[in-house]
Amino acid sequence: MKNLTNYKIREKIVLFRADLNIPLVDGKITDLSRLEKIKKSIVKLINQNNKIFIVSHLGRPGGKINKNFSLNFLCPYLEKIFEGNKVHFLEYFENQIIKNKISEMSFGEICLIENIRFLKEEETNDNNFSKNFTSHFDVYVNDAFSVSHRNHASIVGFAKFLPAVAGNHLIKEIENINSFLENSKKPNMAIIGGSKISTKIQLLNNLIEQFSTIAIGGAMANTFLLANQQNIGKSLIDENLIHEATNIQLKAKKLNCKLILPIDVVCGKNIQDTNPVYCKIEEISSDHMILDIGEITTKLINEEIIKSKMVLWNGPVGAFEYKPYDKATNEIAKIIKSNAKKFNIDTLAGGGDTISAIKNTNAEDGFDYISNAGGAFLEWLEGNESPGVTALKENNFS
Ligand code: 3PG
Repeated sequence: MKNLTNYKIREKIVLFRADLNIPLVDGKITDLSRLEKIKKSIVKLINQNNKIFIVSHLGRPGGKINKNFSLNFLCPYLEKIFEGNKVHFLEYFENQIIKNKISEMSFGEICLIENIRFLKEEETNDNNFSKNFTSHFDVYVNDAFSVSHRNHASIVGFAKFLPAVAGNHLIKEIENINSFLENSKKPNMAIIGGSKISTKIQLLNNLIEQFSTIAIGGAMANTFLLANQQNIGKSLIDENLIHEATNIQLKAKKLNCKLILPIDVVCGKNIQDTNPVYCKIEEISSDHMILDIGEITTKLINEEIIKSKMVLWNGPVGAFEYKPYDKATNEIAKIIKSNAKKFNIDTLAGGGDTISAIKNTNAEDGFDYISNAGGAFLEWLEGNESPGVTALKENNFS
């Protein structure tokens, strides 16, 4: 795979895929780390005197122009990160406008391109679009591991028409995740949470084969509890996956993987209910829903973490966005922070909410590596190479 060390890019027009899909709450940026992650690669390209066009998506505008998803507001942030470098903005994808922008720019300057998902050709991975668009550039760099699981034009299509090079952050993500998976030490533990069991079935099936213990939290645990004939009141479930939840438990038993499911919980009438009710799993009233795991379950997870040589974490164990149901998730971040170094535990975490919990509790230094990818992280853990990474590997332009 070509990278920024083994492949020299000097005085070129570079098309640089970043993931600037940064979290926004009510239009305000809550975390700028995705901008920071591309800094190393971009600085290298600036120092090598290139004209750098950053292409990214933001949100899911569905192939239509929607100013709520414009990337324009990021220009001042990029100017701050790349001090002293002018940051241009390219609003339209028309050929003449692109040509004009390229000649207007000096080498060493950056241009941010408008949200690529304003074009329907991005998500349909339109070959003609990729061919035409890439014709303006000399080389393509992908530094967006977190979106490389998408079969989109800017991820796989562009790599068909230009020399395609892996950025530093993409390589860092792959190396760290692979190193964790390949250097397995037992006993090891995975903590898997989140709301949708459907997005994590394959992951669980894969992890059961590799982990000694898996703790399951978040709304996805409800389907398991229901499969075990627990009364879970109004809790969210995925009815179509009850059978799958039983199969996963049978497979875990067969392969000697211990599954931890909630034995006590924090419930509310709905997600906005600020009067939480704590109860054992057998005591959930029919008008309540499970919104967090309880203290006894958290303690069980804690004990298991301390016994483990490796801990993998993806997904909150409660309705993390709504206080006070963020308690157990924050607690787990703190437990890992205070024990990982002390007990020499290798730790890997990833996924948007997991990262927020780690940041909220200042627990970053408890983790060997925190991936900034969500879906791409999951798919990699499932054992699937991202199409964007395959496209880089298969690129044979010199
Ligand atoms: C992410 O935030 O996980 C990536 O930017 C991918 O976004 P998507 O799920 O909208 O493709």
